[in-house]
Parts: sequence; structure tokens; C-alpha cells
Amino acid sequence: MGSRGTDAKVEYLVNELGFDAAFNYKTTTDYGAKLKELCPNGVDVYFDNVGGPITDAVLFNMNVHARVSVCGQISQYNEKPEPGPRLLGLLIIYRAKLEGFLVSDYAPRFAEGLRQLGAWFKQGKLKYKETTEEGLENAPRALIGMLQGKNLGKQLVKVSAL
Ligand SMILES: NC(=O)c1ccc[n+]([C@@H]2O[C@H](COP(=O)([O-])OP(=O)(O)OC[C@H]3O[C@@H](n4cnc5c(N)ncnc54)[C@H](OP(=O)(O)O)[C@@H]3O)[C@@H](O)[C@H]2O)c1
Repeated sequence: MGSRGTDAKVEYLVNELGFDAAFNYKTTTDYGAKLKELCPNGVDVYFDNVGGPITDAVLFNMNVHARVSVCGQISQYNEKPEPGPRLLGLLIIYRAKLEGFLVSDYAPRFAEGLRQLGAWFKQGKLKYKETTEEGLENAPRALIGMLQGKNLGKQLVKVSAL
């Protein structure tokens, strides 16, 4: 199950990427109710790229021994940090585990990853989209656009011809 910021992106998750369900977080007002509707049996695993109220709603809907991989907090980067950790009591109630995820920890395995992803791509098992901005001088526009959700696929900036 996933969330995106436009209906077209929600449809892409479900119709092309094979998600069981998805919702538009910009038009959904009650994330908790939406999670209960789409995940009636609760959440076992959450890959967190956004933080903020969506993550809060997921944490309140965890199952016992749920696992949360914290990869990004994109909704919070322009916000003033709130003092102190929050919602940690929920880890006690659900005996859940939160762990940070940093891609560079896996640098020694990038070659192996590329081989595996390449094989899956050739087999048609890997679906992806890229949104590319041309030229380093347009990198700020790409970054701002990405924060506004203008990209559909992974936002890239092409700095030179291959
Ligand atoms: N841990 C690591 O090693 C690592 C490495 C790289 C990136 N990251 C994190 O991974 C996440 C994705 O980054 P990316 O560089 O790959 O970008 P990306 O997937 O190319 O684009 C990010 C997407 O986030 C959505 N978004 C923007 N503002 C949002 C908000 N306030 N709330 C919810 N969604 C929002 C936008 O789509 P919508 O239209 O759906 O809003 C945007 O398309 C970020 O949180 C980033 O910090 C982590």
C-alpha cells in the first residue's frame, strides 16, 4: 500500500506497479481512517519516506512486532523540528522496531545490486520511471519541483552526455 500526491500517481502505483491499494495524501483528510480502510488487518512493515502525519497514522495502526525502516522524512525537511522524540510509547505497546536506513551503508554491494537489478530489468520484473532535468544549472529547479511533487519518476539531473 502506498501514498502519492496526485490521483494520476496513485493510479500508477496500483495499475502499473502492482500495489494492492494507494491513496492521494493531498486530498485525504483523515490518514488514520484511510489506513483502517485500506489495511484493515493493520501494518506489519512500513518503509517510511515521508514522516509527519502520514507516519504518525501508520504508527498508530501498527501490528505487534511491526517493523519500520526510516529512509526519508521529506514532509519535514522545511519544518522546524519539534523538541524531543515523539510517539515512542507506541513502540512499547506494539513491541515494534524502528531502524534508520542509509543507502551508502550498502555501497560495498552496489555492483551486486546493479547486476541483480539489471537482470530483473531484462526479465521485465523491474518497473521504473525517471523524470530528468537537463543541465546542472537546472538542478535547483529539479530539487524544488521534486519537493512540490512535479516529478512522476525518480528525479534526475543530466549534467553531461553519456
Ligand atoms: N536514506 C537514504 O539513504 C536516502 C537516500 C536518498 C533519498 N532518501 C529519501 O528518500 C525519499 C525520496 O527521495 P528521492 O530523492 O528518491 O525523491 P523522488 O522519489 O525522486 O521524489 C520525491 C517525491 O516525494 C514526494 N513528496 C514531496 N513532498 C512531499 C511531502 N511533503 N509529503 C509526502 N511526499 C512528498 C513527491 O511526490 P508526490 O507527488 O507523491 O508528493 C516527490 O515526487 C526522500 O525522503 C529522501 O530524503 C533517503
